Amino acid sequence: MNQHTSFAKIDAARTGFPLPAGVFAERVVSVTHYTDRLFSFRITRPQSFRFRSGEFVMIGLPNAEKPVFRAYSIASPSWDDELEFFSIKVPDGPLTQHLQKIQPGDTVLMRPKPTGTLVLDALRPGRRLYMIATGTGIAPFASLIRDPETFEKFEEVVLTNTCRDVAELAYGDQLFQDLCEDPLIGELVAGKVTYHATTTREASPRMGRITTLIENGQLFADLGCEPFDPATDRVMICGSMAMLQEVKALLEARGFEEGSNSRPADFVIERAFVG
Ligand code: A2P
Repeated sequence: MNQHTSFAKIDAARTGFPLPAGVFAERVVSVTHYTDRLFSFRITRPQSFRFRSGEFVMIGLPNAEKPVFRAYSIASPSWDDELEFFSIKVPDGPLTQHLQKIQPGDTVLMRPKPTGTLVLDALRPGRRLYMIATGTGIAPFASLIRDPETFEKFEEVVLTNTCRDVAELAYGDQLFQDLCEDPLIGELVAGKVTYHATTTREASPRMGRITTLIENGQLFADLGCEPFDPATDRVMICGSMAMLQEVKALLEARGFEEGSNSRPADFVIERAFVG
């Protein structure tokens, strides 16, 4: 932690705010803006920090006596040297109105304990793993889909990405392209992973809410497979609260049970952070 303690001192001197006790103060390495609503950033990773792919941490900025912290899914895989996050920009969001302005070299605060239910441990063994994402809900899947353990546990992985318009799909599109071209993981995932992207407000080759595409069977027709079956399929869902509730109801109607860390089952859900 020595290197992080020194960041902490620099930051306290610059901002005038003492750092809260027990948080990591990490340096922003890079920032990518996709649209006026979405951006990603990478920060240094504390040497002692361990997490399971799919978990989230609490993130804040050193800009107040008592900084605002919000839950962020870690988008990088657990083997990465840095930590990546994918965020919405809310004009008056208590955290994101400031976070969207970060630059390389700035400091981001991170609480040390990762947690969450979108983890492989919360699912029973299965054959095909669906990762259902809307908006920034793709972040935990960006971690899981780059984790070799996902492909040790499942023969097939389907990542769905639904956004309002084409530009918002860019993070997921790039993720899939990089995954396929990765010299190490690319070989492992070849022929095992399918990416299914749709828009809801702008014309694109594939359109529609994921809930509609599940209900009318279009998703399965596109994939060339049978509809959800609890005997073979496992599902992870991340996005807006309304989407989570609707997909959860669709799964439960088909006999799927919700899992947790203490009681693995057929599907798990996590709300994507907003604000
Ligand atoms: P829509 O454009 O029809 O609202 P957001 O950017 O607001 O988080 O939304 C991300 C994506 O999730 C959008 O494509 C949006 O579709 C979709 N979405 C929003 N609510 C639901 C829902 N209840 N069920 C399925 N998809 C939803």
